[in-house]
Amino acid sequence: MIPRHFTSLVDLTPSELKQIISRAIELKQHRDPNYIPLKNKVLGMIFEKSSTRTRISFETGMIHFGGNAIFLSPKDTQLGRGEPLEDSARVISSMVDAIMLRTHHHKTVQTFAQFSSVPVINGLTDLLHPCQLLADMQTYFERRGDIAGKTVTWIGDGNNMCNSYINAAKMLNFQLNIACPADYKPDETIMAPAQSNITLFSDPLAASENSDLIVTDVWASMGQEQEQQKRLQAFANFAVTDKIMKNAHSDALFMHCLPAHRGEEVDASVIDGPQSVVFDEAENRLHAQKALLEFLIP
Ligand code: CP
Ligand code: NVA
Repeated sequence: MIPRHFTSLVDLTPSELKQIISRAIELKQHRDPNYIPLKNKVLGMIFEKSSTRTRISFETGMIHFGGNAIFLSPKDTQLGRGEPLEDSARVISSMVDAIMLRTHHHKTVQTFAQFSSVPVINGLTDLLHPCQLLADMQTYFERRGDIAGKTVTWIGDGNNMCNSYINAAKMLNFQLNIACPADYKPDETIMAPAQSNITLFSDPLAASENSDLIVTDVWASMGQEQEQQKRLQAFANFAVTDKIMKNAHSDALFMHCLPAHRGEEVDASVIDGPQSVVFDEAENRLHAQKALLEFLIP
């Protein structure tokens, strides 16, 4: 049987995506300790970058479902010594029931998926962070209902999170305003099929007008630490401030995938303020990924 993978949101159909979001909401509301659909199943988790939320949510999700998760660091496996990805994917997938991979190059996840006999889940690449979008969309649906027809504003770096928001905008049919500096726009190939759902802005205040959800992320992602100073300057006018939140709808929500830098991409008054749902959003990683694991693992 050819396994289903989750390398990107677009590996799902829009209706499957909505089904996973609804299931996540249900799993959060009614936790049944006797429901163990993944009994004796094992998730192999390969982390080439740091993680708090992704690691803990996948590990806990597998335990809740009666299974287990193995944490694999390239430092301690042959992956870090250059064993071919193709061979690693074949070997690891012959022993576990699903593989989660957090890595730099998106191609690595795609190669793994190509050679794995079990589902491969993208736990973040330089290009995409689809698991986070499951949690973000769950959070929006729980608090405000369907996101179709709403306006979401992304402010800051056109990074992996922004690219996944673009995928979500097309699949769930919302309008996405993107305000980022000219040199930090999202990926062209991700934007191309979503043209009718996205609008690029150079002014974050204009982008936040009539918005139902304001989202941002760090200015320097993992792997870009050496660009920190340059990016601080480039993004200086792209912080989410009270002024931005006031310009959006009065019931607009604020999201950030975390970890956050208060005083850089977001003011403390916003992220710790009444419109912020960042901690619920973080918790929803657990529920959303349980729904995803249940969907992917036969
Ligand atoms: N948001 C997110 O993916 O967090 P971690 O890097 O802690 O996993
Ligand atoms: N854009 C950030 C997201 C972290 C969860 C990064 O890639 O570091």
